[in-house]
Amino acid sequence: MSRLPDVGTSIFTIMSRMANECGAINLSQGFPDFQVDRKLIDLVYHYMKEGYNQYAPMPGVPALRQSIADTLTATYQRPFNPETEITVTAGGTQALFSAIAAFVQPGDEVIVLDPAYDSYSPAIRLNGGIPVHVNLHYPDFSIDWNEVKSNIHARTRMIMINTPHNPSGAVLTPNDLNELGRIAEEHNLIVLSDEVYERIIFDGIRHESVLHYPGLANRSVAVFSFGKTFHATGWKVGYTVAPEALTREIRKTHQFITFAVNTPVQMALAEYMKNPQHYLHLGKFYQQKRDYFLNGLQGSSWQPVPCHGSYFQTLSYASFSGLPDIQMAEELTRKHKVASIPVSVFYRDKTDNKLLRFCFAKNEDTLDKALEILRKF
Ligand SMILES: Cc1ncc(COP(=O)(O)O)c(C=O)c1O
Repeated sequence: MSRLPDVGTSIFTIMSRMANECGAINLSQGFPDFQVDRKLIDLVYHYMKEGYNQYAPMPGVPALRQSIADTLTATYQRPFNPETEITVTAGGTQALFSAIAAFVQPGDEVIVLDPAYDSYSPAIRLNGGIPVHVNLHYPDFSIDWNEVKSNIHARTRMIMINTPHNPSGAVLTPNDLNELGRIAEEHNLIVLSDEVYERIIFDGIRHESVLHYPGLANRSVAVFSFGKTFHATGWKVGYTVAPEALTREIRKTHQFITFAVNTPVQMALAEYMKNPQHYLHLGKFYQQKRDYFLNGLQGSSWQPVPCHGSYFQTLSYASFSGLPDIQMAEELTRKHKVASIPVSVFYRDKTDNKLLRFCFAKNEDTLDKALEILRKF
């Protein structure tokens, strides 16, 4: 008996495979096609040669947790305790899973805002929880907090948020965080805040982390990923930031899910992230890519949905095709040789707004090839 009978191969695997088979330009899965900084690679190699090749301490190597705490303090202007508040995980995905495993009891409900990253719902269900899906409002992917409130019941334990948002590129506002704080307090909810794109935010907008709001931070687990920030999605290193009482519980599950995360990469990241120049430029870097992609589409019939963060741009094709989005994505890959992700797969109810998600974390050369094709529509 399958514990996830309705779950098949993920759309990311399917579309990437189709892109390979068809020789299509792959703007489907979210990963950069440019290299990790050579300095960071050299640091990993250095620590491997120095003998840092055995198990790391369960919560993460102290040097990395200290560097994370220093960076958080510089960003949020308050102290963070690396001993009690920071846990290094095998990427954002494991951080999310460990937090859900720590707090969701069988029968507990968790509010998930759709479209949502694909790991949320299975992680909740595998831990015996019940995902309660509330849809964001198209076309700005905003949250209707009254709708959220009306979906809170006696067994609601947690709410998950994601800003900047995958797949839409929408970002939460201070008003959202204030509403969230009020609701979480009133209903005694834990907030699981997926902030893996924290540094990939555009147009001069501040990233609205739960960590900016002391009351909210007290009941939140914030999740981050070095994969996104340092173009190293394959290294799978991330971390959680949570108050001591919550961190204690997260570590209980973390230690049996993965125990510890790879040591030389942690050592290298500890040193590399001390230089803010290594991440402060990231918003500008990706904003240029977003603008390059959007400029290249001018004159075409694709309608971009405003994207203020993440490395995804969603485009509407409603003006020129009525195909269901999964079919449209397939046709675009097989016939026209550009792979994307249909947005309906991020919804439990498969809402189809005729949107495709394109990853613009690519070299200009790759984007040029895709744009040449997309402009023909
Ligand atoms: C919204 C969101 N959360 C979490 C993750 C997972 O991060 P990681 O690759 O560090 O596990 C991703 C990766 O694409 C993501 O888009």
